[in-house]
Amino acid sequence: MTQASPAKVPAHIAIIMDGNGRWARERGLPRIEGHRAGAETVQRVIEACRQAGVRYLTLYAFSTENWRRPITEVAQLMKLLTTSLGKHLAQLQEHRIRLHAIGELERLPMPVRRALQSAMRATAQNDAGVLTLALSYGSRAEIVAAVRQAATRAMAGTLRIEDITEESFASLLQTAGMPDPDLIIRTANEMRLSNFLLWQASYAELWVTPTLWPDFGEEDFRRAMADYAARTRRFGGVV
Ligand code: FPP
Repeated sequence: MTQASPAKVPAHIAIIMDGNGRWARERGLPRIEGHRAGAETVQRVIEACRQAGVRYLTLYAFSTENWRRPITEVAQLMKLLTTSLGKHLAQLQEHRIRLHAIGELERLPMPVRRALQSAMRATAQNDAGVLTLALSYGSRAEIVAAVRQAATRAMAGTLRIEDITEESFASLLQTAGMPDPDLIIRTANEMRLSNFLLWQASYAELWVTPTLWPDFGEEDFRRAMADYAARTRRFGGVV
């Protein structure tokens, strides 16, 4: 197996982590145990990305739709997020990875917001990579918020209609300043984007595996990277 050339290493990988519940059910465990195991996978994948030279990793950790889950599962997930953030912090600091978050963060319970704020502040100067957590995130809501901003500025006379371009519009999204994802991975064999980075995913390569997120390991990561490196990205053109 030859090593992928640097150009074939995605700059940005985004992951829809799916299958925690199924993993727990298969073992007769409560769903939260699947999420706990999933949080450990997060740590391993951050390390795998770092070693492979992937500079941006974005994880779909909680969607706007996930608020509809039973209140006990939501509360357990929020608690897990808070404790995981504390645990991940040392790893982020050691490898100079900056933490970023996108989504309707104001909807998150105060302890999660506090843990997020403090981890983001602590890692703000890190420059080796960026870990973005999508929390209470929904792509349509993000796009609508950007449209509102553009409309507000246009009505105030500070933005000319002809200056609304793909680039200027992208700068109003929460992912402003980040490259679009090159590769989107989804686990548990689901073949949907589920309201994740709809604008940003326009030219992303999609890679789906039947592996449930808690079981996602080095071999899956290696295969995703190898498949990505073998694909020809045409961006709508002819190669
Ligand atoms: C999808 O599995 C997973 C989630 C909705 C939550 C993801 C959260 C984590 C991995 C835990 C912590 C994350 C971080 C960033 C520390 P599912 O419950 O939809 O699985 P199912 O479809 O099999 O029921």
